[in-house]
Amino acid sequence: MSIKNNFIEIQKRRTFAIIAHPDSGKTTLTEKILFLGKVIHETGTIQSKKSKKYVKSDWMKIEKERGISITSSVMQFTYCNCLINLLDTPGHEDFSEDTYRILTAVDFCLMVIDSAKGVEIRTKKLMHVLSLNNTPTVTFINKLDRDSKDPIKILDEIESELKIKCIPITWPIGCGSSFKGIYNFYNSMVDVYKFKQNNNFNDYNITTLSDLYNKSLEMHIGLDFAKKLREDVELINTCYSQFNNSCFVDGKITPVFFGSALRSFGINHMFNFLVRWGPCPKFKHSNTRVIYPEENLFTGFVFKIQANMDLKHRDRIAFIRIVSGRYYKGIKLQNVRLRKTFILNNAIRFLAGDRNIIEEAYPGDIIGIYNHGSIVIGDTFTEGELINFLELPRFSPEIFRIIYLKNPLKKKQLFKGLLQLSEEGAVQIFYPLINNDLVLGVLGILQLDVILERLKLEYQIEACYKNVSIAAIRWIFCNDLIQLDQFKLQNKEYLAIDSSGYLTYIAPSLFNLNLIISNYPQIKFSEIRQN
Ligand code: G4P
Repeated sequence: MSIKNNFIEIQKRRTFAIIAHPDSGKTTLTEKILFLGKVIHETGTIQSKKSKKYVKSDWMKIEKERGISITSSVMQFTYCNCLINLLDTPGHEDFSEDTYRILTAVDFCLMVIDSAKGVEIRTKKLMHVLSLNNTPTVTFINKLDRDSKDPIKILDEIESELKIKCIPITWPIGCGSSFKGIYNFYNSMVDVYKFKQNNNFNDYNITTLSDLYNKSLEMHIGLDFAKKLREDVELINTCYSQFNNSCFVDGKITPVFFGSALRSFGINHMFNFLVRWGPCPKFKHSNTRVIYPEENLFTGFVFKIQANMDLKHRDRIAFIRIVSGRYYKGIKLQNVRLRKTFILNNAIRFLAGDRNIIEEAYPGDIIGIYNHGSIVIGDTFTEGELINFLELPRFSPEIFRIIYLKNPLKKKQLFKGLLQLSEEGAVQIFYPLINNDLVLGVLGILQLDVILERLKLEYQIEACYKNVSIAAIRWIFCNDLIQLDQFKLQNKEYLAIDSSGYLTYIAPSLFNLNLIISNYPQIKFSEIRQN
């Protein structure tokens, strides 16, 4: 395989994930995208969330509704000569560090915002993580078929809350029951929606007008809407910059689209843009040098491990994001951490219910490999070079419990089990300085059940939780050792060590945290710990 062929394959790849606050419409939009990619052949209203409990992934919901198996971490399909790798990000009760880690394996993201609610807390957190790597992000403002906030206000909110500049690519004409259509700034065309019956958003025709000053605009949408649209467009053109691809690729701007996932308004505009401008796989930093996708030799890293994907098989699958080179059946790969080389014949991908053995894969692709627990998240695979892609930070958990054993004699197994679960990223462990409690921290409530269940199944340990009054945990960094010692002496009862030996502050309330931050300005209280 020559470098040139590799180059063509790389240019075709679009590897991305959809991020959103729960209920913004991520699942509905995913479904519409899978429909465009012909992965599914029917869309419709997805079963109400009120009736579902503990789904493992948003994708499982689509799977149940459509009767096909897409429960996997990645879906690959072709669209307009591009090869799309769409990665699932757990979003609801199962929100965990896993969600953040998946974001290290994508080249860009699609952010969904509910037009009535604007920027919500989960979106803020996810965007914060994306900004650490300057990951390019496209924004889709959803649910325009309902009454929405003023679009300009939503843009203001994104800019101020998410600290990123907006570049509107489409613009809505009305919303809710007076939704009339979508204007596209880049081809200047107006899509006018004609609903066959009032209040039936599911049955409509679209007429496309060639420009804003087309004589029939007034006839289609009425005098007031035509006037307002022209004013809006003039305002946007004056106040917002033009789309600039290098700013987008550097994560400095977010192109913004408006529409409705449920009613399929404006989705084509967004998806065509995403395929045209969404960046293909780029270089990645390792601990020794920059690795380019066009390089001949294979490199990749594990960003996710999924256990028991198929209960019949009782398997564990490690998901590797390919950074450079090419995977082919029979390739000899080394796990750099274990210094162990093996021949890989059965890497898999999941497609509409099937596990397919992959013949070959390229940078941007995700391959799944079977393993029995030897591979951990963050492992690097190469054809021999001793490098590491170490960009998986730890994020401060939000839900805390003290764990204790029903049978205290099994303490050693408990430590071992928790340590392994913590290496997988399923949980974080904190050891307070002043007592022998074992404090667990997770990001999503579902993780707590998963931990007890896995301890029981995999380590034969019966454990329980006790509530603990912790509002937040922060990693402590300070260059001035005298100041640090003084701080430690004065706050011993609020200090703990994490499983890697880093010092943390345990805040019983947010008030206490803010107070301590203002009392010790020379100390950094960090929500993130880089490895
Ligand atoms: P999520 O994955 O981000 O959590 O959101 P999901 O797609 O599950 O959508 C959440 C709810 O919002 C769903 O209603 C869905 O039908 C609805 N929804 C998604 N996109 C749109 C849209 O463009 N317009 C409107 N009007 N609704 C949309 P649900 O399951 O019935 O839940 P609920 O409404 O009872 O909460």
